[in-house]
Amino acid sequence: MKILGIETSCDETAAAVVEDGRRILSNAVSSQQQIHARFGGVVPEIAGRAHVEAVLPVMHDALREAGVTLDEVDAVAVTTTPGLIGALLVGVTAAKALSWARQMPLLAVDHLHAHIYCAWLAEETPELPAVSFVVSGGHTSLFLTESPLVHTLLGGTVDDAAGEAFDKVSNILHLGYPGGPAIERAAREGNSRAVDFPRSWLDPERADFSFSGLKTAVLYHCLGQNASKEALEAVRYDAGFVADVAASFQEAVVDVLVTKACQALDRHGAQSLIVGGGVAANALLRERLEAEAGERGFRLHLAPRSLCTDNAAMTAGIGYHLLREGKQVPLTAEATP
Ligand code: KG4
Ligand code: ZN
Repeated sequence: MKILGIETSCDETAAAVVEDGRRILSNAVSSQQQIHARFGGVVPEIAGRAHVEAVLPVMHDALREAGVTLDEVDAVAVTTTPGLIGALLVGVTAAKALSWARQMPLLAVDHLHAHIYCAWLAEETPELPAVSFVVSGGHTSLFLTESPLVHTLLGGTVDDAAGEAFDKVSNILHLGYPGGPAIERAAREGNSRAVDFPRSWLDPERADFSFSGLKTAVLYHCLGQNASKEALEAVRYDAGFVADVAASFQEAVVDVLVTKACQALDRHGAQSLIVGGGVAANALLRERLEAEAGERGFRLHLAPRSLCTDNAAMTAGIGYHLLREGKQVPLTAEATP
């Protein structure tokens, strides 16, 4: 069965064709990163407009790359939640139009479940039950996963998401948007023990996270306690300072993410850990998780690096399971932020 996936929840317009939930026939992504870069983050209104321009060309690209016509597509799967409402609506409207015009089933995909599903697009199928970790620009959420479609939320961030912290700290360090890859690059030249930034452990019995204090600590370290927008614009850093702060910040985030993921595994007696979302592309995080998996003996299912950030292959992939379980939705289905 071939599913066409459409994803427009944030700042990537993406479409993909996936066969039987595993074989990626195409994976087209049009990124808006350059458009948002000069604002230092995603501007929702601009994102919505850019999706309108890109969605049809990207859908055409996905079909062409896959060598598939619409007649050969069995269903259309689209991200309906969570995300920026003006952005989600573009993909949802395109998918509904296609479903209505071609009389094909419409499938509503939860974006976080789709990030988890990337583990099924890797070589080895995950063993279940698993603890699943979505570490992205909008979420830092742990789930208990019983099937590709059944996920129980264990906890998440009480303030900033991990990716959001990378983006904000990148802004403080004048490294640009998106922050994750920029910080990772700068950190390679730095000393991760240069600054002892705080780790928010919160309650070890709960799967909650907080990154806002860490971000503020970085701001104070760089600009002092009276940091202002003008001071941030005016400041000039030395490259060694930026590298050390980037490395120390990255170390603090990874430390918390890895520790909390391991605590959740212990608490739920799970033998597998699934990790997806944009921050899962981070090399230090992947390395540390692999080391813990080796030491503690759990199975680690990392999303393939190329599928960590937003894409529609994960949307189409999970769509296959929704279709097989008869979970198609009517044309009245709504997008919810
Ligand atoms: O999953 P994603 O594409 O979008 C959301 O659903 O939010 O994640 C984007 C986030 C951004 O905050 C970006 O800075 C972060 O993932 N990111 C990274 C890396 N690549 C992307 N963070 C750390 N290290 C990376 N290599
Ligand atoms: Zn995402």
